[in-house]
Amino acid sequence: MTALRIEDLSKHVGETVTLRGWLYNRRSSGKLHFLEVRDGSGIVQCVVFKGNVSPETFQQADHILQESSIEVVGTVKEHGKIKGQYELDVKDLSVLATTAREYPIGPKEHGTDFLMDNRHLWLRSKRQHAIVRVRHTIIKAVRDFFDGRGFTLVDAPIFTPNACEGTSNLFETDYHGDKAYLTQSGQLYMEAAAAAFGSVYCFGPTFRAEKSKTRRHLAEFWMVEPEVAFLDLDGDMRLAEDFISYVVGRALETRREELKVLERDTAALEKVLPPFPRITYAQAIDLLQKNGHPEAKVGDDFGGDEETVISGQFDRPVIVHRYPMDLKAFYFKHDADDPSLALNMDVLAPEGYGEIVGGGQREDDLAKLEAAIEHHKLPRDAFEWYLDVRRYGTFPHAGFGLGIERTVAWVCGLPHVRETIPFPRMLNRLAP
Ligand code: 4AD
Ligand code: MG
Repeated sequence: MTALRIEDLSKHVGETVTLRGWLYNRRSSGKLHFLEVRDGSGIVQCVVFKGNVSPETFQQADHILQESSIEVVGTVKEHGKIKGQYELDVKDLSVLATTAREYPIGPKEHGTDFLMDNRHLWLRSKRQHAIVRVRHTIIKAVRDFFDGRGFTLVDAPIFTPNACEGTSNLFETDYHGDKAYLTQSGQLYMEAAAAAFGSVYCFGPTFRAEKSKTRRHLAEFWMVEPEVAFLDLDGDMRLAEDFISYVVGRALETRREELKVLERDTAALEKVLPPFPRITYAQAIDLLQKNGHPEAKVGDDFGGDEETVISGQFDRPVIVHRYPMDLKAFYFKHDADDPSLALNMDVLAPEGYGEIVGGGQREDDLAKLEAAIEHHKLPRDAFEWYLDVRRYGTFPHAGFGLGIERTVAWVCGLPHVRETIPFPRMLNRLAP
């Protein structure tokens, strides 16, 4: 007999059904045992009344260990007090497998290291369950947004000979005797693909050997990267604000319950609608100086603290554009009005979350790009294929990358990215 999913209980009120899952929690009051059972789709309270089951079953129900796998047969009824919630009046119950030892994660507070070491078990908890479901919805929304706008999905490789985002945080590996890197970004490949398909995106894991411990950096994170032919920086900003608003809207639409579990203030997310405010890098420096960072000066890069101050001034994401070229990767196009500036943009999430998107318009002039590769001391050979994109019908183009984990942290209201990915990889953490 196939078991019913807990999230479908509402359609079966009055019926006798079978559920299979794990014991989440248990309490007793003499003639009644209350078993909270979870099956991955939800959690339901199963009420074992002495008069409804055999004496053996009643006795057993009081001794099932947390996280044993169990099967419950019972009648679905509406919860006495909470509207929209359902319970099961248990008729029969069997333990499919008890636990080999006491489940290590209990209701008491545990330290973060302990929980991270037990990440494979921690995923069973309500809060982690809610986060992973929001993440799923965000990823689905990401794909739906681009698919709905005629973008073609073009997967970028993970092994690559190129450093896209500087050489300081590359994961190097041996590739049959040659040096290869785990990709930092699929962008260079998307630029080639934009010439083939017009509007493209890639979505996959990316890798950076970040040497510092921060609440925003993972060694392995997922990034979605659109790239569009004949798009300039302004168009890129519009694409980013439409995209982010769509993704947040979908999370609000479909994951209300999960956001409630996470105690997320959804009113703050409701404000995420275009247009987003736009400020230049120079204005951002000014803003920092006026808000507790008098030492800030043109030429500084923004760290987490600075981003928190800047984004904290706005009630929706803010776009900061035109950073000094010196702070940016080799591939950006120079601003024609001031060639010391890059035609780039970062989107900083509000409530102090900081950068979730980085992107901009690419250098489309062959000679200028060759000079930039030399200036950044990048190995010319590895970039010959990329230069071909400028050799054969070069075209203005722009794109960006959005980090999924930082977006999930913001939407869920989490202080650290480590809970936003099922199995995080960070400095000092490769397991489980
Ligand atoms: O700003 P970044 O480095 O931009 C790029 O990689 C471009 N090549 C993207 C493009 O234009 N196609 O990274 C983009 C985003 C950041 O805004 C951030 O959300 C995320 O990727 N990100 C990280 N997320 C978690 N951990 C890290 N170590 C991250 N590094 C970047
Ligand atoms: Mg960036």
